[in-house]
Amino acid sequence: MIVARTREELAAARDRLAGTVAVVMTMGALHEGHRALMRHARALADSVVVTVFVNPLQFGPAEDLARYPRPFDADVKACAEEGADVVFAPVPDVVYPDGDPVVRVTAGPLGDVLEGASRPGHFDGVLTVVAKLLHLTRPDVAVFGAKDAQQLVLVRRMVRDLDVGVTIVGVETVREADGLALSSRNAYLSPDERTAALAISRALREAETVAPQGPAAVLVAANDVLDAEPGLRVEYVALVDPDTLAPVDRSTERALLAVAARSGSTRLIDNVTIPVGDRPTGMYSKET
Ligand code: PAJ
Repeated sequence: MIVARTREELAAARDRLAGTVAVVMTMGALHEGHRALMRHARALADSVVVTVFVNPLQFGPAEDLARYPRPFDADVKACAEEGADVVFAPVPDVVYPDGDPVVRVTAGPLGDVLEGASRPGHFDGVLTVVAKLLHLTRPDVAVFGAKDAQQLVLVRRMVRDLDVGVTIVGVETVREADGLALSSRNAYLSPDERTAALAISRALREAETVAPQGPAAVLVAANDVLDAEPGLRVEYVALVDPDTLAPVDRSTERALLAVAARSGSTRLIDNVTIPVGDRPTGMYSKET
């Protein structure tokens, strides 16, 4: 496995890769969720490139850029264990040699809702670095996690709207045994904060069980679980179309239930995609 730190090292390593190439983009602090993406990539393509880059452009001024975990040696080891061929781990000056880019990718209205409403400019920063890393790594396939549902929607949309020649593949969210979605930011949680955070995945599961009763029941069930956990500050609970992110108010085969909440100072997101019915509560009791 080659660890490339510069554009030149990446270009040389990329030129030596045979066959189809899959890329997995990450900000490091790699966990089992990232590893699942790497294994997926391995199964899809002849060669795998993993990028490890904490992208300053997608962090707001009051966010956790400085303290974001950077366990570089462990990350390189994880990539090697998962059979990556190349790790591209640049510093910001390599990715942005002229400072902040003047020309950027804008996410448009899909970037203003949900995460974008709390994190202005976040998705412009994400899409700009994703576009750059696609150009630098030249993959056939790029693998992203459903954990960051809005990011996946926007990457797909960018590829379609801007005719980027790459196939985007989504991988379902990897969770701890107790339901907590794996995230590099889980490392910030104290034991009590982690316990409070479990209400997020519990809310999603609870909502799923009442989904046949319709959108209102889904939102009530999710909010009830979240409201019962005093350690959480909920930022949003939204039931939206998984492609347009428009609110869902009727039955549908696929709706995205997305939650963002803070446990202590740590901001966490999670989601499920579920079918939503239109049977009012009373009519849905005992039948199987
Ligand atoms: P990061 O948060 O490191 O995530 C990298 C990739 O891993 C993303 O595609 C994300 O959705 C996926 N991922 C994270 N946790 C996961 C989990 N529990 N299960 C499955 N997949 C998971 O997302 C980013 O970095 C950045 O925004 C990036 C795309 C690299 C651009 O800077």
